Amino acid sequence: MMQRQIFLFFRRHKFFFILLVFIPALFLFKKLDMDFAELQYCPICYGNDFCPPILNGSVKLTRFSSWSFIQLFNSKNVFFATYGQKKVVLKKLGHNFEIRNARENICTTVFKKEKGCNVRESLKVLLNEYYGDVVETFPSLGLRSADIFQCPSQRLVKAILENYVNQLTDLDERSITGMLNFIAVSLVNQEPLLLQMFPASKGWPFPEYYGSCGLLSAVSDEGIPLLRFVNKPWHFRAELVLQILHLADRMSNTDGWSLYATDMTIDNLSVDPNGKVKFIDLENIIVVDRYELTNRRPAKWLRLAESVYDECDSNCLSFSTEDLCSHLNADHNFYAVCRSLLSSYAYRGAGPHGLLHGIPKEVEAKWKLKHWLRECQKPSIKRGRLKAKSQLITALEEIHRAP
Ligand SMILES: Nc1ncnc2c1ncn2[C@@H]1O[C@H](COP(=O)(O)OP(=O)(O)O)[C@@H](O)[C@H]1O
Ligand SMILES: [Mg+2]
Repeated sequence: MMQRQIFLFFRRHKFFFILLVFIPALFLFKKLDMDFAELQYCPICYGNDFCPPILNGSVKLTRFSSWSFIQLFNSKNVFFATYGQKKVVLKKLGHNFEIRNARENICTTVFKKEKGCNVRESLKVLLNEYYGDVVETFPSLGLRSADIFQCPSQRLVKAILENYVNQLTDLDERSITGMLNFIAVSLVNQEPLLLQMFPASKGWPFPEYYGSCGLLSAVSDEGIPLLRFVNKPWHFRAELVLQILHLADRMSNTDGWSLYATDMTIDNLSVDPNGKVKFIDLENIIVVDRYELTNRRPAKWLRLAESVYDECDSNCLSFSTEDLCSHLNADHNFYAVCRSLLSSYAYRGAGPHGLLHGIPKEVEAKWKLKHWLRECQKPSIKRGRLKAKSQLITALEEIHRAP
């Protein structure tokens, strides 16, 4: 009888008991320390150059990032923090299972050895086979799964490795660690490699890279997700779209490189406090070395690589890595912007023109934006997409100048 009464009491007040368990959990704060950075996995980690500010308390978790309870829902493994006056984002660069896979498989996939091999020794043995030359060793590491290494470029491999090792031959112990960090980053997420290679300081529309500590990589906080702007006034959104088209232009051809975004979704763009649009997720970017291509001159390399509209009824974006790697120019980035941001696939509930929905009548009468958006997605003539993006840029620039 007594037991039944207790049971009924618990059942009647179950919400109270659930709260009793969860509320204290809400107030347990996570601290930035060696455990948080998971330093124990180094040297199979992203680096240690950003450990001093993380471990000496200069970097402090903000927003909800310090709440333990929130981590249950933080499957993206992204933490917001401050670093002095700066706002930074600490990224684990992957889901926990992806990081674990990379760690557990490094011996089998990179060194072709049994699980649990001595990575430091294995790397030294491999380097010896190539007379201690890092660039010569690179192809045998089998890191081609990262998009950044899909297209051949010695210049790229060399420049990226230089960020991780002191010299390119006869590595000292520190450089061996650096090289293992490079391998770990390449296996989990190429983002830090790109951020260092194409730095914000040189005008690339990406976050600034501050460094890494264990399994955390620190980048500048580039503000608010673009998704939060979809209901702003039309002229405001038109200016954001103009910036995105310029960003796509810049990525397509700058300083001898072409960067093609294969995951151009609204979640991967943000707007910083100065209203500047940034591309914040660089996990899926294919890099073409334009100089290398000019030397190699594969068949039809000067012909424009034109993306073919994919009919799939979702935000799919098809591309051919082979085509992108073997052509000097491609309209891929504009296909990505027009199909993934300026169509009904832009976000849940989006209208036919996505971010540009609700084009004012007088604007449409003068600039025929709907026509050019259609042409940008699914061109009706050869080179039609490049013509359409130029028309869209001209129109949006004029509209911005004299709204
Ligand atoms: N540098 C940054 N500045 C501001 N927000 C960011 C930044 N990096 C990531 N975020 C936020 O975290 C989310 C997830 O990060 P992202 O790199 O896109 O990871 P995922 O690979 O899981 O998509 C983004 O959609 C964005 O809201
Ligand atoms: Mg993303």
